[in-house]
Amino acid sequence: MVNKNDVIYDSTKMEYVGGPKKPSLPRFYFPIIIVIVLAEAVVLGLIIFDMLPIHAFQIYPWAQYGPYVSSSDISNIAVTVTKWFFFLLTAGVLVPTTIIIIMEIVRKLIVSFRGEQQGWDDEFPILEKLDKTPKLPKDEKKRVQGDYIIRFDIHQRIQHYILLSSFIVLAVTGLLRGFPDWPTFAWFTSIFGGQDVLRLVHDVAAFVMIADGVYHLGYIAYGYFVMHRSPAAIFPKWKDLKDILHSVLWIFGMYKKEPEYDHFQYGQKIDYWAIFWGMPVMVITGIMMMFPSLFAPLIGGNWMAVMATAHRDEAILATGFILIVHMYYGHLQTTAFPVNTVMFTGKMLKSKYKQWFGREYSQLTGEKEDK
Ligand code: HEM
Repeated sequence: MVNKNDVIYDSTKMEYVGGPKKPSLPRFYFPIIIVIVLAEAVVLGLIIFDMLPIHAFQIYPWAQYGPYVSSSDISNIAVTVTKWFFFLLTAGVLVPTTIIIIMEIVRKLIVSFRGEQQGWDDEFPILEKLDKTPKLPKDEKKRVQGDYIIRFDIHQRIQHYILLSSFIVLAVTGLLRGFPDWPTFAWFTSIFGGQDVLRLVHDVAAFVMIADGVYHLGYIAYGYFVMHRSPAAIFPKWKDLKDILHSVLWIFGMYKKEPEYDHFQYGQKIDYWAIFWGMPVMVITGIMMMFPSLFAPLIGGNWMAVMATAHRDEAILATGFILIVHMYYGHLQTTAFPVNTVMFTGKMLKSKYKQWFGREYSQLTGEKEDK
């Protein structure tokens, strides 16, 4: 019989295991994740370094908006302010999230070797005040189907396929265009057929992404006005603040379990809203650069330079965010590793759902939460 004192809570698996020091993840998980995070830290260093506002803004000869922007436009105060804004935004978003990810991995590493003894402090009453379990919208229980729980319908999955592919094409072609001085990038540019091909592919992919954005907004509007389906689950709530504090306390060993989530984890909400902010920035600035003869006479060369700066710097932030935050919370964290298929199949195994969205799982299935 297992001695009660030997029972440990393993938060890398989010379940109780029957003895101490039980390894819970594949042996190669931590070496792989450490290499990935170190590589990401190097990318982050390069991003931050390249975005330092002391770097001069450059216009390359192939830029369509080049003829509309003079050298005094480039050194104008509005361009400097834009550069500082994006530099601080990027550092403010990526540095703390990277630190939290690294701390989380260290915590999971410790848990996986030592196990976590029961009886550690739990539940700070003051945090509980921030929490209110939301009512499950009607018909939601239909999402439970056999061993699976349905999470995304076919429209959401199509939107994600299009976003994923158009973003990769835009990031590759855009960054190759924007950083031609890096020898590897210059080599890839020649392989792909030169700057004109990159621009054509970038323009086509941009319209695909814009169409996807319209599809997404139309889907939400149709859901809300016709199907009476509220998008409330994705909006920030006090519980998210509570969960962030809870996670930090868990990292320092003051909670024995990670938070129990409803329909979305706070990291997923940050992910969604980051894209919701980034898309209009990229679309507005990108369209102005695409048709400079139309927009430059209206807004002037100075603002064209601001648009180009914002487009470039938001592209760096978006790519860094996807590589670091989206990849970690989507695929690399212990419950998702090595690959999370839910966005492709639309459904999640019940056992996984319980780990990811414990509170909603209990509401959907009627099973009690683990205490
Ligand atoms: C969906 C809307 C988008 C539109 C309409 C758009 C449009 C454009 C256009 C027209 C240019 C060329 C400017 C020129 O050289 O004359 C450009 C450059 C660029 N794009 Fe986009 N783009 C979009 C999205 C993206 C995304 C999602 C990324 C990357 C994540 C990206 C990254 C870049 C970069 C890095 C450049 C080079 C900027 C520079 O010259 O320094 N773009 N974009």
